[in-house]
Amino acid sequence: MNILVFGKDGQLGKAFHEELEVRTSALLAKPLIQYVGRSECDLANGVALTGLLNDFQPQLIINASAYTAVDKAETDFNLAFAINARAPEIMAQYANDRNATFLHYSTDYVFDGEKYGFYLEDDLRNPLSVYGKSKAAGEETIARIFASVGGNGQYAIFRTSWVYGGGSNFIRTILRLAKEREELKIIHDQFGVPTSADWLAQVSLNLALDEHVHLRRFTSGIYHAVPAGETTWHGLACLAVQTALDAGVNLKANPATIKPILALEYPLPAPRPMNSRMSTDKLHQVFADWGDMSKLEQLNQPWDKAVRSYVANLAKDGLI
Ligand SMILES: NC(=O)c1ccc[n+]([C@@H]2O[C@H](COP(=O)([O-])OP(=O)(O)OC[C@H]3O[C@@H](n4cnc5c(N)ncnc54)[C@H](OP(=O)(O)O)[C@@H]3O)[C@@H](O)[C@H]2O)c1
Repeated sequence: MNILVFGKDGQLGKAFHEELEVRTSALLAKPLIQYVGRSECDLANGVALTGLLNDFQPQLIINASAYTAVDKAETDFNLAFAINARAPEIMAQYANDRNATFLHYSTDYVFDGEKYGFYLEDDLRNPLSVYGKSKAAGEETIARIFASVGGNGQYAIFRTSWVYGGGSNFIRTILRLAKEREELKIIHDQFGVPTSADWLAQVSLNLALDEHVHLRRFTSGIYHAVPAGETTWHGLACLAVQTALDAGVNLKANPATIKPILALEYPLPAPRPMNSRMSTDKLHQVFADWGDMSKLEQLNQPWDKAVRSYVANLAKDGLI
């Protein structure tokens, strides 16, 4: 099997690299895996992207790349749509034409956050920002292509939120600021679920591959993929700082000096949804139907346990 992973230098791309190496290390017949970053293929160049797909002929395409500069996207509409909608369209068209599997990632920002409670996969999209609109366009395009007659490919779009891993992210920013300042002001009225890139790569491969690293058949569509529980940006900041302090890191701030503020008090160019909570019942049902308790257990991992382990590792590696 040929596996093509886009976004190799991003948080999720790095997590896929690690996880695929683990899953394939003991195989006698290893799949051929190509990890692609910007230097190998600029995704704004549709001709180059099509050429790469035709040359490598993947049976599994994992698109961990995206235009993720949420605020910059407000004034960079064309590039955000090129990377988040047009490039996935080309990947999806290839996958559907060649009966391949396509894994793609989307965001809670496709919603307006006005819903009370947990968003379901088929709830109405109403993105507030250009980034959210470009990701929503990507979702719609992929679904349209796979719904067209002719192909026999399959796709999963994992909608996730508040991703952290090997790259810059909210947790690392907070820890850097906590080293520099005694007092921080963090939003406490936006709700969501921090998601580890490692966890997301594992859950995605649990759906797409069996234990022999062969492709599985699954029902194409959108799947919400976030760990269990919920918090606010303030809750996440306090946990990250407390965990770093517990690990012996010398910080100026502590949870008592992290002041909760309203989102209104911290305006950003791109509006964010106030409620980003997403139900993962659909993915639960798939793993339950397969009778796979270990995959269910992993899906049920609480967000705070993973954050503690992430921050403790950053501290151990001297990265705070
Ligand atoms: N981060 C979050 O909080 C979050 C929340 C919800 C959903 N998501 C979604 O989750 C997925 C993974 O996010 P992430 O946090 O891993 O993102 P990330 O760390 O920003 O990585 C995105 C990758 O895409 C690459 N890329 C961007 N433009 C490109 C271009 N023109 N050509 C080639 N590569 C390009 C970037 O390359 P360079 O390294 O060269 O810039 C980067 O490595 C994305 O679909 C994102 O929308 C993320």
